[in-house]
Amino acid sequence: MPRRKMIYEGKAKIIYEGPDAGTVIQYFKDDATAFNAEKKDVIAGKGVLNNRISAHLMTKLEGIGIPTHFIKQINMREQLVRRVEIIPIEVVVRNVAAGTLCKRLGVEEGTILPRPLVEYYYKKDELGDPLVSDEHIFTFGWADPYELEEMASMAWRINDYMNGLFAGIGLRLIDFKLEFGRIYGEHGELYIVLADEIAPDTCRLWDAKTGEKLDKDRFRYDLGDLVEGYQKIAEKLGLVPEGGSINEQMFEKLDQIENELAKQRQLKNLKPSKPRKA
Ligand SMILES: Nc1ncnc2c1ncn2[C@@H]1O[C@H](COP(=O)(O)OP(=O)(O)OP(=O)(O)O)[C@@H](O)[C@H]1O
Ligand SMILES: [Mg+2]
Repeated sequence: MPRRKMIYEGKAKIIYEGPDAGTVIQYFKDDATAFNAEKKDVIAGKGVLNNRISAHLMTKLEGIGIPTHFIKQINMREQLVRRVEIIPIEVVVRNVAAGTLCKRLGVEEGTILPRPLVEYYYKKDELGDPLVSDEHIFTFGWADPYELEEMASMAWRINDYMNGLFAGIGLRLIDFKLEFGRIYGEHGELYIVLADEIAPDTCRLWDAKTGEKLDKDRFRYDLGDLVEGYQKIAEKLGLVPEGGSINEQMFEKLDQIENELAKQRQLKNLKPSKPRKA
């Protein structure tokens, strides 16, 4: 592999320059962090599972017409994605109360919300990614009303789809975080696409029967082996054989299948956003 230029190193991933203009490579590290990086560790195998699960979910979402940055998996730790201008808002969708919602509002963990709750957080590590309202987003120009509407409606659709997907394999989707980005077309048109990752690092998933937490809360609250939880999710999704571990050869085969599905999808799948005010 030739030396590549690193564009950005985050807590869980590294972004490298891609082979073509408008592409980047997302490398999934084994680093785990929680509570704004106050707690840190390196957990062997975590990156591989996040890569696999995220690639699978992005492919599925493309299949229902959600435009994403995902192009294809390259190997166990890397995927080729479209380079986007990340919108500095994390969109969180909650179905069941957990995490900071409980801390902030005193709601009991596990309370089923009467309707899915969509929240926005300003992506700013120095400030601890604070909760913001749509008014903050417009006032400071982080996204305009058209963009936010598109992000929120995609978030709702993604939630509907993933609720069904996970319910069907015995998992409860408690909440998850999304990031979106802008792609500018040849004629200056704007596309909003789902970016970053959707994986057990960024979702809460509980076993429907036992209530066991299988996501990053295992690491946050020392609930058990992290990779074991992620592996269970991957097994239920049919991405790895039960009880087996992933090896390079198997991964390549799985890659081929999924990349075949991804091949036909190019920008033609995308619809430009509504025109923006000057
Ligand atoms: N398609 C893309 N093009 C450009 N940047 C991307 C793309 N997808 C994700 N990113 C950005 O790459 C970084 C991924 O690294 P990582 O998730 O480790 O970051 P992080 O430590 O969580 O920091 P951040 O607070 O910036 O998300 C994130 O900043 C994310 O917003
Ligand atoms: Mg991140």
